[in-house]
Amino acid sequence: MTEKQLLELLASMSAEEKAAQISQIPLSMCAGGFAEPTGPMVEQQLTPEQVVLCGSLICDQMPDAEKFAGIVRDMTERHPHHIPPILMRDVIHGCRTVYPIPLALGCTFEESLAEEMGAISAEEAVACGYHATFAPMVDVVRDPRWGRVMESPGESPALCGQMGAAMVRGLRKGGVAACAKHFAGYGLCGSGLDYAPGDVSRTEMYNTYLPPFKEALDEGCEMVMPAFMMVDRIPCICNPWLLKEVLRNQWHSDAMAISDYDDIRQLMYHGIAGDKREAARLALSAGADMDMMSFAYLRHVPELLEDGSISMEQLDEACLRVLRLKNKLGLFENPVWCVDNARQEETCTRQAHRSSALEAALRSCVLMKNDGVLPLKPGMKVALEGSHADSRNLLGSWSLDGLAQEVQTLRESFAADGRITLTDTEEADVILFAAGEEQEESGEGTSKANPVFPEEQLQQLRQLQATGKPVVLILFCGRPLILTDVLPCTNALMNAWFPGTMGADALRMLLMGDRNPSGHLSMTFPRSVGQIPIHHDQLTTSRLYNGGAPYSLRYLDEDLSPLFPFGFGLSYTSFALSGAKVQQPLSEEEPAVVTVDVSNTGSLPGETVVQLYARWKDIPVVQPKKRLAAWARVALEAGETKTVTLKIFKKRLDLYDQQGNARALQGKCRLTLGFDSTTAAEVLCLDC
Ligand code: BGC
Ligand code: BGC
Repeated sequence: MTEKQLLELLASMSAEEKAAQISQIPLSMCAGGFAEPTGPMVEQQLTPEQVVLCGSLICDQMPDAEKFAGIVRDMTERHPHHIPPILMRDVIHGCRTVYPIPLALGCTFEESLAEEMGAISAEEAVACGYHATFAPMVDVVRDPRWGRVMESPGESPALCGQMGAAMVRGLRKGGVAACAKHFAGYGLCGSGLDYAPGDVSRTEMYNTYLPPFKEALDEGCEMVMPAFMMVDRIPCICNPWLLKEVLRNQWHSDAMAISDYDDIRQLMYHGIAGDKREAARLALSAGADMDMMSFAYLRHVPELLEDGSISMEQLDEACLRVLRLKNKLGLFENPVWCVDNARQEETCTRQAHRSSALEAALRSCVLMKNDGVLPLKPGMKVALEGSHADSRNLLGSWSLDGLAQEVQTLRESFAADGRITLTDTEEADVILFAAGEEQEESGEGTSKANPVFPEEQLQQLRQLQATGKPVVLILFCGRPLILTDVLPCTNALMNAWFPGTMGADALRMLLMGDRNPSGHLSMTFPRSVGQIPIHHDQLTTSRLYNGGAPYSLRYLDEDLSPLFPFGFGLSYTSFALSGAKVQQPLSEEEPAVVTVDVSNTGSLPGETVVQLYARWKDIPVVQPKKRLAAWARVALEAGETKTVTLKIFKKRLDLYDQQGNARALQGKCRLTLGFDSTTAAEVLCLDC
């Protein structure tokens, strides 16, 4: 449709039709057909006539292309203007083919993998009949007590922005609409408690929490989801500064703002709205276009319009964004994307998809300790112990379409490989202990006051260590855990996170040395809970650490350094940097260019991530002590040296004022290069 046709369509719609168009209801409400009211409709006191008018369905059932196609066709035919519904689903880290959790994918530092995950997820999503997904999550995360850190690419705004934008690119290739969430600052929830309030200055918003959203939107991300959070004590879902000033006026974005689940109604719990009607008024007036699952728009927008509490212009603006999105996706011409369950099955089980997920898992696991016991050698006798040795629950939270029965266990993978002999602890040369969190322990609503390695498993680990045999911990977790007591009980530690459908094979290949571990931590690992939040880009303070001197930045009972810094990751080989040079200065239009020679100084081929951190010298505003500004993944044969080029874009060095303007900074930037955020192998000065 042309824009003119869309406007004509809008003009022909009644207030009730528009209110329904900006409402998302569950697909299950439509699963029983529209001949007579079904259970869920009765519960919500809706008639089939009202339900067919709704603009969007959240897919709350397992995919069934034929069934979904039937619902879409039926609703479109019955709609007075034949407007099809848009089907949405949380396709977060893969669809049926599940990739490592996003926090793990962040450890690859490889945007091409995020893009590929987006594209393959989209192919499978289309085959399931979905039109849009609630991904990527680009919340900057600094608090491992918060269970939702597993959904984010990590603690660095730059990494979140680049991985998020790459995923958007991939999803768009596959034709599925993306949604940047949660706009903004959801990671600030107090003490890591999901849904608890948190608030920061606008300056901090502009500098830390908003940039990844800007990057995703600049890439063409179609939707944005306001967070269960507040800014300046106004909940995001009814915050005009966020939804109008930042999103529309400053960023010129036309992305459709869809509420989070039931979030509009929840304004009542905030004590901001006395009833659902007022909640609908506040959200719509602030610029929230679509209501997910609170039925507030559906029920109250017509009456709000009638008594003048909202204007037709406000309603039209929201409705037009929904229609434009449908038009962009081609839904008016072709609302049904897959009619055939055989095609759904074939697409979702493609070998190429599984190979891609395997590759992602291989690069996202992080080797955190190794005294030389790894890689395992063929012919070894190995005992495989622990809660996750025989588990298929390796997908991680937010893998709604993944199937546990398609996941191999670690034991099955090693048994099929056959190069080592699986035996009991008495017979074994080496003990592998696969343990950590269960996948249900991270994700939404899974906060922990003490994100520690489970006590019972620590006891088991100690018993295994007491055998005197080398013990390798294969750690499963959806967040950084406190490993201070765990580390001394291991000879090696491989962090698997939750590695997805192909996780077991990836771990086996890494442990056997078929592939060299190359993941680098996307989030800092604290030594103790009291250090949280701890991250590489903390702001500087007047009383900087001074060897623990009195009246300086220090704990009486804890170190200031983390157990493992951001960017950390070991390999079976070793790497060195030399000859760093600034090849091109920074300008408004062009990034600065730095080159550095990276050498593989060990005896095995491997991959590493060269990281560049930046800090301005003497500028009139407090800034992070360092922040990730550029990086590159590089593969090297043993003994090989390559010159790597790093581009530093202006946005990676920008600092914003309270109004969101990039300060006009001039001067020098100190650049440090290394393989994690604490070691500076090379130091440069960049003139800006
Ligand atoms: C979550 C969102 C998710 C939505 C729909 C909410 O509870 O916060 O991230 O997209 O549910 O499932
Ligand atoms: C303290 C102040 C004190 C001053 C002079 C500073 O270190 O922060 O509270 O008044 O020393 O003793």
